[in-house]
Amino acid sequence: MKHLFNLFLSFSLLSSTYAASADEWRKRSIYQIITDRYALPKGSDLTKCNPADQTFCGGTWSTIKDNLDYIQNAGFTAIWISPVSQNYEGARTPYGDPYHGYWIADASKLNSRFGTAADLKALSDEVHRRGMFLMVDVVVNNVMGLKTDLSDLSTYMFTDQSQYHSYCPIQWGNTTSEQNCWLGDLNVTLPDVKTQDPGVVSAYSSWIKALVQEFQIDGLRIDAAKHVNMDFWPQFCGAAGVYCIGEVFDADPGQALQWQGSQALDAILNYPMYNALVSAFTIPGPQNMSALTDMITQIKAKSSDPTLLGNFLEDQDVPRWASLSVDPQTMWNAMTFSFMSDGIPIVYYGQEQGFNGNADPFNREPLWPSGYANSSSYEVIAKLNQFRNFMISSSTSWITTQMEVLSATTQSIMFTKGPVITVLTNVGSPPANVTIWANTGMKLSTPTTDQFAIGSGGTLEVSYVKGGKPAVIVPDVLLAGSGICGHTLTTTSSTGSAQEASSSNGAQLQKLGSVAMSAAYSAIMSAILLRIWTWVL
Ligand SMILES: *[C@@H]1O[C@H](CO)[C@@H](O)[C@H](O)[C@H]1NC(C)=O
Ligand SMILES: *[C@@H]1O[C@H](CO)[C@@H](O)[C@H](O)[C@H]1NC(C)=O
Ligand SMILES: *[C@@H]1O[C@H](CO)[C@@H](O)[C@H](O)[C@H]1NC(C)=O
Ligand SMILES: *[C@@H]1O[C@H](CO)[C@@H](O)[C@H](O)[C@H]1NC(C)=O
Ligand SMILES: *[C@@H]1O[C@H](CO)[C@@H](O)[C@H](O)[C@H]1NC(C)=O
Repeated sequence: MKHLFNLFLSFSLLSSTYAASADEWRKRSIYQIITDRYALPKGSDLTKCNPADQTFCGGTWSTIKDNLDYIQNAGFTAIWISPVSQNYEGARTPYGDPYHGYWIADASKLNSRFGTAADLKALSDEVHRRGMFLMVDVVVNNVMGLKTDLSDLSTYMFTDQSQYHSYCPIQWGNTTSEQNCWLGDLNVTLPDVKTQDPGVVSAYSSWIKALVQEFQIDGLRIDAAKHVNMDFWPQFCGAAGVYCIGEVFDADPGQALQWQGSQALDAILNYPMYNALVSAFTIPGPQNMSALTDMITQIKAKSSDPTLLGNFLEDQDVPRWASLSVDPQTMWNAMTFSFMSDGIPIVYYGQEQGFNGNADPFNREPLWPSGYANSSSYEVIAKLNQFRNFMISSSTSWITTQMEVLSATTQSIMFTKGPVITVLTNVGSPPANVTIWANTGMKLSTPTTDQFAIGSGGTLEVSYVKGGKPAVIVPDVLLAGSGICGHTLTTTSSTGSAQEASSSNGAQLQKLGSVAMSAAYSAIMSAILLRIWTWVL
């Protein structure tokens, strides 16, 4: 129903829960923004932002609003912005100033560094006018301080000492300690809010409900979610009435996925898969493709719904992909996994420009020096969004159909999601005498090229004699109206994602699911790097 979204919004004042559900979010793709670093007002000096300085560079909610074409032209259907609450405003700390927005003072007030309430509403309105969703980052686990005593709480939303846990450093591995002791260190303390206190629960619930309603927020990204008692989340997210995706910074799928489900959150950011993708694809790296196939199996077994998880290759806390891997082809392969496997693809601003900052603060570069260019990575991402958006719009079941691995070698993996076959490799750009083979269960036929060979009985062999490009292969008949692989674009909605493509196309897609097809490849090569191949019936 997302094409009715604008209509829906016009009734929003009549409803307390107009914002978007998990089911609506799974069909989206998200562009993550650090508000301070995305864009400057016109006429600003573009040379003055050095991430090492850890201070404000000047981005605001208004400058995001004025630069949404860049995000929408890349096919994204949602943005995630930095926390909007008021931050610490005191003297510079050993870790600089709170340009990132995570150093909460009074959560119930807006951060005037990023604009006014009217500015945030204008951003929300503009995002919705474009048919996109707005996700806001929220921090409830802690506030920010400079000491370990709680003698002056006058600057915070919670002003009573009983509403905080008293200071203790975290003992990692001890769940109680991870949830009740304080994150941060003695330079910058992060006093831990007592989220077990009924008064705190009720005040936070009222606050988030009002925030979501006032600014028509469609979803929440929850900071430090595993540092809060799990039973806090159903009440909080219930009050918000929107999809909640939590930061659960844990590579172990068994541990991390406990935080997904009705007992906790709709979804989590998929750190276990992130780690597996780094293991499988980066050069140099362990290049451990088994880590990826193993993780796919574990996530299927342990996630209450893999199609709701957040897929990412970068964020504000991990090194940029290009600082981990020398070969851009590895990023395009891993990126194709984020979009073509189960889950919601999330791209951290700047990845589309090949930024290569390492850890915090160097991975928080200003975007403007890139000139917002249509770079190679930008084009790859745009192509992936275009194709994924089209598949979602033309079939109601494709997005909830789970991926299945067809075959894997030490250097490559082939998997399906419904009738879409994705073939990825970690060999990198240079030619490699490496092949991957699988029986697709579909009757494919001709032509055979030096990279792709079709055998009788549905076998597909891919060779990397021309380098390790990702490939996405889809029946040609499903692309009618898509604007992809030589097909004309028939209908484009305001999201630019052809959401109203013909329903007969959708019906065909439903039928095709697992049906064996007699097929021939056509319309080979659509993008410079990513190739979406097709076959016809
Ligand atoms: C775990 O942390 C809590 C809170 O700091 C503490 O009271 C408890 O003794 C710790 N448990 C162990 C086994 O160390
Ligand atoms: C405080 O910050 C300084 C400068 O970054 C660092 O050297 C020191 O280790 C920090 N102290 C603590 C207690 O973390
Ligand atoms: C590769 O990943 C698998 C599965 O996670 C693991 O068992 C194995 O030890 C890893 N191999 C290397 C060389 O890291
Ligand atoms: C990128 O391409 C779009 C669409 O063709 C165009 O409008 C935009 O100006 C280009 N951006 C740059 C920085 O060249
Ligand atoms: C490619 O690999 C195959 C199988 O390992 C081998 O038989 C063939 O000689 C190799 N070709 C080249 C050009 O190295």
